[in-house]
Amino acid sequence: MLTNTSQPAPAMASQIELIGRIISVHGSQASVGIPAMSPEGPEEKRITVGKFLGVAVGKTLLVGLITNVSMRPDAGAGALDTAVAELDLIGEIRTGDSGTTYFQRGVTSYPGMGDPVILIGPRELRLIFQSSGARMVEVGRLHQDSAIPASIDVDEMLSKHFAVLGTTGVGKSSSITLLLQQILQARPNLRVLLLDVHNEYGRCFGERAQVLNPNNIKLPFWLFNFDEIVDVFFGGRPGLEEEVDFLSEVIPLAKSSYAQQIGLASRIMKPGEGIGGLRYALDVPVPYRIADLLSLLDARMGKLENRASRMIYHKLMTRIETVCNDPRYAFMFENANVGGDTMAEILATLFRLPPNGKPMTVMQLAGFPSEMVDALVSVTCRMAFDLGLWSDGGAPLLVVCEEAHRYMAADHSVGFAPTRRSISRIAKEGRKYGVFLGLVSQRPAELDPTILSQCSTLFAMRMTNDRDQALLRSAVADTAANLLSFLPSLGTGEAFAFGEGVALPTRLKFKQLPAQMLPRSDTMGDDAGSGEQAEFDSRSLAAVIDRWRGRVTRPKQSAADELRAASVASPSLQPGAAPVAPAPAAPGAAPALDPNRFRLLRRPVDEVAGAGGIDRPEAPRR
Ligand SMILES: Nc1ncnc2c1ncn2[C@@H]1O[C@H](COP(=O)(O)OP(=O)(O)OP(=O)(O)O)[C@@H](O)[C@H]1O
Ligand SMILES: [Mg+2]
Repeated sequence: MLTNTSQPAPAMASQIELIGRIISVHGSQASVGIPAMSPEGPEEKRITVGKFLGVAVGKTLLVGLITNVSMRPDAGAGALDTAVAELDLIGEIRTGDSGTTYFQRGVTSYPGMGDPVILIGPRELRLIFQSSGARMVEVGRLHQDSAIPASIDVDEMLSKHFAVLGTTGVGKSSSITLLLQQILQARPNLRVLLLDVHNEYGRCFGERAQVLNPNNIKLPFWLFNFDEIVDVFFGGRPGLEEEVDFLSEVIPLAKSSYAQQIGLASRIMKPGEGIGGLRYALDVPVPYRIADLLSLLDARMGKLENRASRMIYHKLMTRIETVCNDPRYAFMFENANVGGDTMAEILATLFRLPPNGKPMTVMQLAGFPSEMVDALVSVTCRMAFDLGLWSDGGAPLLVVCEEAHRYMAADHSVGFAPTRRSISRIAKEGRKYGVFLGLVSQRPAELDPTILSQCSTLFAMRMTNDRDQALLRSAVADTAANLLSFLPSLGTGEAFAFGEGVALPTRLKFKQLPAQMLPRSDTMGDDAGSGEQAEFDSRSLAAVIDRWRGRVTRPKQSAADELRAASVASPSLQPGAAPVAPAPAAPGAAPALDPNRFRLLRRPVDEVAGAGGIDRPEAPRR
């Protein structure tokens, strides 16, 4: 190894051990002539890709990352520096006027030919990675020196969003658990909403998180905006145009109607057409009742002469009733005909306001009807953003989305547009309103690149697919792009961290999580992962079938009961424009639906089909 004590001491180098000299400089890249290493050399002194070198330039120590090492074909016989290391210069350690040394990103002075190059030691690494950011949290250890903690700047990471990317099984969910635990510790005022696609985080956060699933969540249908409720009514497929049109006409009327009944109309309705000359905008999240919606549709249908148009109304009403009566949708349609503005209560529960010692919500999506999960994610993310917007960022919230490529696919024809919109809004404007985004994906290449480009801290874990790597290459800064070629060689729980949250792009190993905190599917039980096959008896099988069929444990009121209850609650429901006949079956109980509204169904099926009565085949959305 070369040594040269005649060189001026750089700002920080703990011991000057010259390993080479600058032989060429290209912008922010430099080549260093170094001696070829013997394979027996100690690990910390080996010069190889991913390690940091320092270039002494006056009182400054430039910090560079080795991206390539090779032998020099042009080295003459007897030359000491027979190898060459390519360096990306990414920061510098400087000495301030007061004599204190500090690290800063970016390079202000560039090396010249022959400048001495040293291996960065533990002291410099500590200075770089433990810089005194206000809220640094330790998430693991550096690969270069496992004695040095890898710290993340929580504020920087949150405010500009972050993503954890990597192939399946490399430890993304475990890293997210670790990151969230640390973030919650560093930011006690932050609340976290974790969209748990595979129901695996239920026990990772212990007492700090409430776990929501279809059995304990209440998300009334009226919180869904128009696109979302159409998606629910149509089972995750695009709605039929005429039916959607009719729905768009009656939903504002149902809202106005309900507001009128409870005397809110004059206070919050907007001028426009509709009941009493006033009308709600389609997407305003105010309560309405399914009974009103059906009555309005029924009244409109009753006025029509044209049988084909009547059929459209009829199909729409049947569709709505079917979904409302589906026990899997009980969390949306329970009390659908009773009314009541529970928005404050729902927001308080969902977004932990106040946190009451549980600043986190784990929303287990796997138990919801799969065809409506997109709409559910859309409504949740939309409300998260709107809450931030209307509260002027008063209640900072981090939304973490697993399997992000499902909701924000690179191919815009895949997925549900409102979900994409909801999440994009958080990505683009969320930081202004204290709403932050954390994305997890095992298929970065399928993720919308514009969303990824909004994430300024990236944790890239093992990734073997070329397309995934290419996408990442376009998302990270040039200086870091070279590191991506290491991605296939990373171990489980290892990551390259890039961007605002870390001092320098670096390879790190996340801390080990205790077994009881590892994300794991609820159904896998405690033995899962231990290598032993859990006993699978007939009771387990019955439980599996129950889950499969989406059994909901809460008893659900029948639609007829609810309609009755609703009619008792509001006998004067009907708007003037939509008179409805009294129900013959229950004298005195109104509103009743037109008893003849199903008469078309009594016709022979082929006749109904001839009248356009059979559903058109609808293309599945994905
Ligand atoms: N930080 C860690 N501490 C302890 N074990 C870990 C850690 N990271 C990963 N593992 C191990 O790796 C396994 C897979 O990790 P994890 O479930 O987090 O991967 P993943 O990338 O989320 O996988 P998938 O793509 O299937 O969701 C874990 O069950 C655990 O055994
Ligand atoms: Mg996972």
